[in-house]
Amino acid sequence: MKNFLFVAAVLLYSCNRSSTDTVVLQKRIDSLQTLVNNSYKPGLGEFMSDIQVHHAKLWFAGKYGNWDLANFEVGEIQEALDDIPKYCSDRPEVKSIGMIEPAIDSVSAAIKDKDQNKFDSSFTLLTATCNDCHKATNHGFNRIKIPDIPPVSNQVFRPQ
Ligand code: HEC
Repeated sequence: MKNFLFVAAVLLYSCNRSSTDTVVLQKRIDSLQTLVNNSYKPGLGEFMSDIQVHHAKLWFAGKYGNWDLANFEVGEIQEALDDIPKYCSDRPEVKSIGMIEPAIDSVSAAIKDKDQNKFDSSFTLLTATCNDCHKATNHGFNRIKIPDIPPVSNQVFRPQ
C-alpha cells in the first residue's frame, strides 16, 4: 500500500509537471507565432522597386563596359527574383515571374562575353519582358524603359 501510494504520488507529480510544461511550451509557441506574424516581409512592390534600381544601374554599367559592375547588378536582380516566390506566395502574379529568366540569361551571357551589341539587344529584351509580365498581370501601367540618366548621382558607373 505504501509502495502504491508512492508510485501514485510520483505519477501525479509527473502528470502535473508535464501539463505545466505543455502550457509553458504552448505559451512560447504562441509568442513565437506572434513574432513571426509581425515580422517584416517585403511586399511584391518593394521587390519591384528594388529591381527597378538595379535594372537602371545595370544599364549604365553595361553602357560604359563596366562588366564587373554589370555582373553584380544582374546578380542583384536575380537575388530579388529568387526571393519573390518565397516572400510573396500570397500573390497569384508570382507564377508568371519565370518568364523573365531567358532575358536575364541572355544579359548575363552578353556580360560574360563583354559584348556591347549583345548587351544592348538583351537589355532591350529584358526591359520588354518586364513590361510583358506587367501586362500579363494587369499592371501594364507600370511601364519600364531604358533609362536616360543614371538612377543616382553618388555612384560611378564608368569602369576605373
Ligand atoms: C510576375 C511578373 C513580373 C515581372 C517579370 C516583372 N514585374 Fe514588375 N511588377 C509586377 C507586378 C505584379 C507589380 C505590381 C506590384 C504591386 O502590387 O505592388 C509590379 C510592379 C513593378 C513596379 C512598380 C513598383 C512600385 O511599387 O512602384 C516596378 C517599378 C516594376 N514592377 C519594375 C519591374 C522591372 C524593372 C522588371 C524587369 C526587370 C519587372 N518589374 C519584372 C510583375 C512583374
